[in-house]
Amino acid sequence: MPTTRPRSGHSARIASSELTPQSVWLRRREFVLAGLAAGLLPGVLRAAPDGAGLSYTRNARYGAGETPNSYEDITTYNNFYEFGTGKEDPARRAGRFRPAPWSLRIEGEADRTGVFALEDILRPHPLEERVYRLRCVEAWSMVVPWVGFPLADLLRRFAPTSRAKYVAFTTAAIPEQMPGLAYRVLDWPYVEGLRIDEAMHPLAFVATGLYGQPLPNQNGAPLRLVLPWKYGFKSIKSIVAIRFTATQPPTSWNRAAPREYGFYANVNPAVDHPRWSQARERRIGAGVFGARRPTLAFNGYAEEVASLYAGMDLRRHF
Ligand code: MTE
Repeated sequence: MPTTRPRSGHSARIASSELTPQSVWLRRREFVLAGLAAGLLPGVLRAAPDGAGLSYTRNARYGAGETPNSYEDITTYNNFYEFGTGKEDPARRAGRFRPAPWSLRIEGEADRTGVFALEDILRPHPLEERVYRLRCVEAWSMVVPWVGFPLADLLRRFAPTSRAKYVAFTTAAIPEQMPGLAYRVLDWPYVEGLRIDEAMHPLAFVATGLYGQPLPNQNGAPLRLVLPWKYGFKSIKSIVAIRFTATQPPTSWNRAAPREYGFYANVNPAVDHPRWSQARERRIGAGVFGARRPTLAFNGYAEEVASLYAGMDLRRHF
C-alpha cells in the first residue's frame, strides 16, 4: 500500500509452485513454447486451453523476455483499495462485485460522448496478449500476461477535439459491492489521468483479461489500464468513465499525498520515494535469491517512452 513501507519477506511465502493449479502450470509450459516460437510465428491465434477463455493473438513484440508470474501470484497479491488495504483483501473480498452488466461514460472534449454498453465498447477490438512488467510504487514487481487492446484504438473512436490535452479515468464506486469504500483511505471514487500523448502511446493498454481468461474482479474487471512504464497506481481498475480535458485532471494518490505521488509517476530508480528507495525492487515469486533486483528506468521501456518526456525535469515532474 502506497502510504506504508512494503512488507518484507513476502517472497518467502510464495514458494507456490506446488499451489499453482495444473491448468496454469500447463499454460506456463505453453508460454515457454510460445516464447520459442514467437520469433517465427508472430500473431498466431491462440485460444485459452479450457475453451472458456478469450480468443486473442500473441503480440511477440511485448514478451518482456521474462517468465510471467504464476496465476496464483497475480490474482492473490493485489492492490485494490476499494476492497481493503491488505494484499489479500481484493481476492478475498471482491466476490460480490458484479462486472456485468457494465457501461462506460465518455465525456468532455470529444465529438462522440455518451454512455456506451461494455459490449459496444469492446466489439471492434481484436484482443492480443502482451507480457508486461508491472512495478508498484511500493517497490515490488511482477510480470503479467495481459489480454486486451491498445488504449489509443479505444480513445480514437470518440474523436477527441484539439482541446483534449489530457484524459481522466474513474473507477466504479459501489459501496454494497466494494467493502473498502467504507474506509476513507482515499477520496472515492479512485481517479487517474494521463497526458493525451501518453494515453495514445502504443504501450498504453486496456486489459480485459490475463492468462487468457477474463480479468478476475481483484485485478480490475471488466476493464482496466496497464501502463507498464509507470508505477502501478496509474493503472486504474474497473473503469466506469473516461473524460477528455483541456487541463491536468486530479489523481487519487497525488491528491492524498502530493509530496509522495506525482502526476507522472514514471518508474525512476534515480528518484526515491520520500520514505523508501526506488533503486531496487522485489520480484514477487522469484524466491529468496532471485527476488531483489535493480529497478530499470521507465521499468525497462525507456527506448519506447523516454521521448515523451524530452526536456522535462523528471525530479520535479515525478
Ligand atoms: N485501481 C483502483 N481503482 N484502486 C486501487 O487501489 N491500486 C493500484 C492499481 N490500480 C488501485 C488501482 C496499484 S497501487 C497497483 S500496484 C495496481 O493497481 C495493482 O494491480 P494488480 O493488483 O492487478 O497487480
